Amino acid sequence: MKLADNKATLSFSNGSPSIEMPVYSGSIGPDVIDIRKLYGQTGMFTYDPGFLSTASCQSAITFIDGDKGELLYRGYPIEQLANHGDYLDTCYLLLKGDLPDAKQSTDFHKLVNNHTMVNEQMQFFLRGFRRDAHPMAVMTGLVGALSAFYHDSTDITNPEHREISAIRLIAKLPTLVAMSYKYGIGQPFMYPQNSLSYSGNFLRMMFGVPCEDYVVNPVLERALDRIFILHADHEQNASTSTVRLCGSSGTNPFAAVAAGVACLWGPAHGGANEACLKMLDDIQRMGGISKVGEFMEQVKDKNSGVKLMGFGHRVYKNYDPRAKLMQETCNEVLAELGLENDPMFKLAKQVEKIALEDDYFVSRKLYPNVDFYSGIVQRAIGIPVNLFTGVFALARTVGWIAQLNEMIGDPEYKIGRPRQMFTGSPRRNVPGAK
Ligand code: ACO
Repeated sequence: MKLADNKATLSFSNGSPSIEMPVYSGSIGPDVIDIRKLYGQTGMFTYDPGFLSTASCQSAITFIDGDKGELLYRGYPIEQLANHGDYLDTCYLLLKGDLPDAKQSTDFHKLVNNHTMVNEQMQFFLRGFRRDAHPMAVMTGLVGALSAFYHDSTDITNPEHREISAIRLIAKLPTLVAMSYKYGIGQPFMYPQNSLSYSGNFLRMMFGVPCEDYVVNPVLERALDRIFILHADHEQNASTSTVRLCGSSGTNPFAAVAAGVACLWGPAHGGANEACLKMLDDIQRMGGISKVGEFMEQVKDKNSGVKLMGFGHRVYKNYDPRAKLMQETCNEVLAELGLENDPMFKLAKQVEKIALEDDYFVSRKLYPNVDFYSGIVQRAIGIPVNLFTGVFALARTVGWIAQLNEMIGDPEYKIGRPRQMFTGSPRRNVPGAK
């Protein structure tokens, strides 16, 4: 962050003296006006609910150009990482800043593989849940509960603790997601098999059973790895900001990531993949492709409360680059599984086509986001709808932990504490009190 050539001047119509504020430039992206001294100098706060114009931190991890539809992890375009990368190398990149060389990559893969098992006690904790509990309710509990098992790595101010917690979280999330699935369907838990790749191992823990050998399908393995890469980080989104805010109090990384899982669950965020598939299912039940027009009229009617799930984004005002890649993956997976004529995929393409030609969506710059196609791919792989957001959480864990560790290492880091404009009652007395 460096001082820009210009300064910002804030003046007031009531004659109060104007004040100057420094402007900083990042490496790319909009400059920022530094308002930290504003309250001290004027007694006023800024007001920006939803953070529409507020940078909450400086970060060197992920950059999005929403107008261009560009996403960079540590400077590398998402398309290049998705086409030539591997999820664990991407994790290394996000955590450490550069892609690993061959030895660093082998060592990192080994390190993560060494931590895939969870404490055996974890399954007894899991068994306290109802079998029909939503997997995100289970995941919020399980991830938070990890802090009870790793007292040796919960000091967020200790860089070694932060490092080992990051590895543990990345390694154990697939095991926990698969366990929550197996529990729901009443099958035995599958222990991790460390000779497999990260995504191959997840497929086996999800779909393998102890009485049979499980052969990993390389097309599905690659597709899953790509889903993980596409979801690995997305700068200061709602769940990442939640992790940062939660971690800013000094709480342990497992607790902070559990807060991220809880935030991701909402349908306006990671829960959109589940909501999108439910929406396509509803249109299918209404009559399928012939009813898309009717459904779109509901979406455009502000009083209906119906939104086109998987469309729109706070930052992207162009096609979400992850949605393009996800559509390619969708084609590959459906072809591999002989599902090219999948009615849901055809319906999704029709919805997308109509929306992209409709003035309501065009004028508001609403395009498909990553969640529009990810549900179709996951469903084809065999992942149940209510686990989609759990898979997203698994993949995003590295982003959360990389951002948390970056915050703790930032010399300007302070506990996050937003201010407010109070609109309630001024002081008054309880009847009978003076
Ligand atoms: N369907 C219909 N209209 C929409 C949609 C949508 N999916 N998204 C935005 N709009 C409309 C809004 O009603 C608003 O219209 P107006 O200007 O006439 O009032 C305009 O587009 C701008 O939308 P906002 O809600 O102001 O945009 P915001 O940045 O606050 O919200 C969000 C972004 C939450 C993603 C929104 O687009 C949405 O709810 N989309 C559907 C849910 C979804 O797919 N979420 C996943 C996001 S990606 C992720 O988290 C991984």
